[in-house]
Amino acid sequence: ADYDLLIVNGVVVTDTEAGEYDVAVKDEKIAKVVKRGELKDAKATRMIDAEGGYVMPGGVDGHVHLQEPPLFGKGSSADNFETGMKDILTHLGVIKLTLIGSRSAVCGGTTTMVPFAPQKKSEDTLLDTLHATHAKAQDNCYIDYSFHLLVGNPSERALSEFKTLREEGITSLKIYMTYEALKLNDGEILDVLLEARKNQITTMIHAENGELIDWMTKQLEKRKMFAPKFHGPSHPPMAEIEATHRAICLSEFMDSPILIVHVSTPQATAYIKAAQNRGIPIYAETCPQYLFLTKNDLDKPGFEGAKCVCSPPPRESEADCDAIWDGLADSTFTILSSDHCPFRYDDNVDGKKTCINDEYPEGHFKYIPNGIAGIETRLSLALGEDRLDVKKFVELTSTNPAKLYGLYPLKGGLVEGKSDADINIWYPPGKMPTYALTNSMLHHNVDYTPFEGRTLKQWPRYTVLRGKVVWDRENGGLIGEKGYGKFIKREPSSLAKPRFEGEWDVKEDGSFGFY
Ligand code: URP
Ligand code: ZN
Ligand code: ZN
Ligand code: ZN
Repeated sequence: ADYDLLIVNGVVVTDTEAGEYDVAVKDEKIAKVVKRGELKDAKATRMIDAEGGYVMPGGVDGHVHLQEPPLFGKGSSADNFETGMKDILTHLGVIKLTLIGSRSAVCGGTTTMVPFAPQKKSEDTLLDTLHATHAKAQDNCYIDYSFHLLVGNPSERALSEFKTLREEGITSLKIYMTYEALKLNDGEILDVLLEARKNQITTMIHAENGELIDWMTKQLEKRKMFAPKFHGPSHPPMAEIEATHRAICLSEFMDSPILIVHVSTPQATAYIKAAQNRGIPIYAETCPQYLFLTKNDLDKPGFEGAKCVCSPPPRESEADCDAIWDGLADSTFTILSSDHCPFRYDDNVDGKKTCINDEYPEGHFKYIPNGIAGIETRLSLALGEDRLDVKKFVELTSTNPAKLYGLYPLKGGLVEGKSDADINIWYPPGKMPTYALTNSMLHHNVDYTPFEGRTLKQWPRYTVLRGKVVWDRENGGLIGEKGYGKFIKREPSSLAKPRFEGEWDVKEDGSFGFY
């Protein structure tokens, strides 16, 4: 055979083009993308008729939490690297063994993920963290992966390890302006930004003002307001707006590119846009929760609201969601990620119900672990809404995350001879009956989805990873194998670059800058 796989009769969509093309795959790579019909005499081991459905590069999810220790409130993640099948040992406080997350990803069309390797405040080194995370992921992933280092303690030693991180193919890290277990002060943030700039590492920032959150939490406690819905007022828009502005200022001062993660408010979006318009290398991410969920979802009676506790929280109204959709359409947001951070609902050992105890028999919002699952629903929810141009959809969910995190054109594209053959084939118009999403359809280890009942108009029909069909919705569903997914060494970002040449320094006369 000339090729391993031919995909014909599709509408091929990349970030720059949409048209009637056929795709040929050989040796795990995209071999050819040519006008429809041009490959009709070619021989292939397997042929897929896309029947007019979209053919896109596989999803790249740049924001995923798997198998992390308790960092965002009590509880630990329900999904490990394989899928989310909970290891019984976690209940005994033993580190979770191998398992789930990438399974859920592949069943929703995501072929590459970048989860976190979380360094705790009590740890001095980043490299140990990285190697421990490698060990968890090795042989346990259904999809390809890399890691962002989550820097909880930018000690001198940790900062000195950035160079080695970069050599080991880790070209991004995340820092926090909130959460007791992770929060860095502004001086520590500057240390990280300086060292990141030197080593061509991109810094992701969780921008919420931790002290404002603590202060609001005390105000609510004084008034005996503990229900899950008070997670909303404890994390007001101003906490995000202030921290976003501060993060932009620190990044501009240090000329060190940042990505502001999970942006949820119109005003923070406006600050980001203004900085971008001034030419500052500020990038931004949002997530489906800020497109689809609002205060109403947090405001459910009893403990139900806990299902939508994430930070930042779902905002006030549809108007907030609309502003975030607009930010996607006008490129203020560079990427649309899931922020998959899975906690079980009905679980008082690791899940949302860890916040229920003798003192708070109905729970206390401040102890609910923050985060919701969404790695599997990210693509289908966003595409099905028909609010984004399809090329823009590919850009936000695949090409840009690949470019931002140094994976392009290996990932996130359909570039002949260069891109891995990671492909989603969607249903042709009218072929998939519209249905309501239920958690039972999903492949994570979480006992609910915050998107329960949403109308789904699309789902990947086939997903291909390095030339192999790993998801065939009508014939076997998940047919990929655990361990096929491999670690990808990343390059520096091809999007996020400093503006100035040289290294930051202070001269004898007190002037400072890049020399
Ligand atoms: O609530 C969230 N977002 N949980 C995940 C942790 C984080 O800050 O991304
Ligand atoms: Zn965050
Ligand atoms: Zn996150
Ligand atoms: Zn449990």
